[in-house]
Amino acid sequence: MRFENKADVLLGLQWGDEGKGKIVDVLTPRYQLVARFQGGPNAGHTLEFENKKFILHTIPSGIFHDGCQNVIGNGVVLDPFIFKQEVESLGIGMPQLKKNLFISGKAHLILPSHRLLDAAYECSRGKQKIGSTLKGIGPAYTDKIARCGMRLAETLSPAFREKYQERKNAHMKLARNLGYNIEELRLEEMDFEAYEAAWFKGLETIWSLTQIESEIFVNQALDDGLKMLAEGAQGTQLDIDFGSYPFVTSSSTIAAGACTGLGLAPSRIGEVYGILKAYCTRVGSGPFPTELFDEEGDRLRNSGNEFGSTTGRPRRCGWLDLPALKYAVMLNGVTKLIMTKVDVLNGMKNFKVCTAYEYGDQRVDYLPSDYDPDKLKPILQTMEGWDCDLKDFKTIQELPAPLQEYLNLIEAHVGLPMEIVSTGPDRTHTLFNQ
Ligand code: IMP
Repeated sequence: MRFENKADVLLGLQWGDEGKGKIVDVLTPRYQLVARFQGGPNAGHTLEFENKKFILHTIPSGIFHDGCQNVIGNGVVLDPFIFKQEVESLGIGMPQLKKNLFISGKAHLILPSHRLLDAAYECSRGKQKIGSTLKGIGPAYTDKIARCGMRLAETLSPAFREKYQERKNAHMKLARNLGYNIEELRLEEMDFEAYEAAWFKGLETIWSLTQIESEIFVNQALDDGLKMLAEGAQGTQLDIDFGSYPFVTSSSTIAAGACTGLGLAPSRIGEVYGILKAYCTRVGSGPFPTELFDEEGDRLRNSGNEFGSTTGRPRRCGWLDLPALKYAVMLNGVTKLIMTKVDVLNGMKNFKVCTAYEYGDQRVDYLPSDYDPDKLKPILQTMEGWDCDLKDFKTIQELPAPLQEYLNLIEAHVGLPMEIVSTGPDRTHTLFNQ
């Protein structure tokens, strides 16, 4: 079967927080359907326009564009408590949301006891903590794969309450075995019972929206000629298979995740937009070869406002890592490259970029899966900086010469031209390749 109309995919090439929300928002006018395919409320996609700022956790970033349909796919994990808060923060009425937001009945639920279990697992790891956002992502996906998870569609069945209680008891038992004192637990500054009650209220909000068979819905939309964008969350370096395991999230963050998380055949994927930030950040634990521990790292953190939009945690900051980027471009089959936050480098006399790694006495351009971080050193190239307000520029070609040189180096390394450069948080701060 030949598919004429294909879905484009947009995803992060680093450790998340590449500025995906803003780019989807900029690209959305080209699309009539935006769909999330994995992750859940661990994501925080920030959108800024008309002097307003919104953070989306589970809802696709097309929600602010009239006439754009938004789908939460089967690959997403959904927390009704957080979902209700998110809906209320948007300032969009329920009738409008009912028209523009569609949720897969196959999406799995994050139960309150999944969050509890997430905390219990993190505590039990001692020094080996993942640095999870503690939103219950890992335990919810664990239940899905272990075939004892709860899908949204089941919540309308008469057996729902019984199964809920059975899963909750199992989670509580596990948490207790891990030595976690659940009686003292508070979630979102509430005791467990109050949180649970709010969670069920959230479920009512979800019931008032439209539930769909999202794989049929998106394939039909494509057959009907609609332009569709699949919106990824987190980033390639946090992928469950190809990230720095176990310091990863629990879903497939790469382009293949769009196939399984939405029911799209591989031959239905069109362009793959890969987003990178002009430098790197990482939240939580795990290897980060170009991490800075000095005032240059502090400068990136402060100028780039690198504090988690979901957890508020300071992000670890470092130079752009070209070997990791090349790996991500390969895994995703990126066809269009987009760079964000170049304005954060403004005013730096010099900055650096990692072009390869030194591993023992070898020079390598990928991370061996069992590598010892203590033996790995990034090989850094120093780049000349620039000092001007990039918001005055209208095209990529006009940008200052040192920045052009930086772009050329990245393009040569990964073998793709830069299609979009973002020079600030607002929709208007976006330059296209002319
Ligand atoms: P979890 O997905 O909450 O279990 O977190 C696993 C790891 O992925 C932790 O290091 C988190 O900080 C990181 N992580 C999860 N979601 C995001 C995200 O949206 N942006 C950046 N890092 C994330």
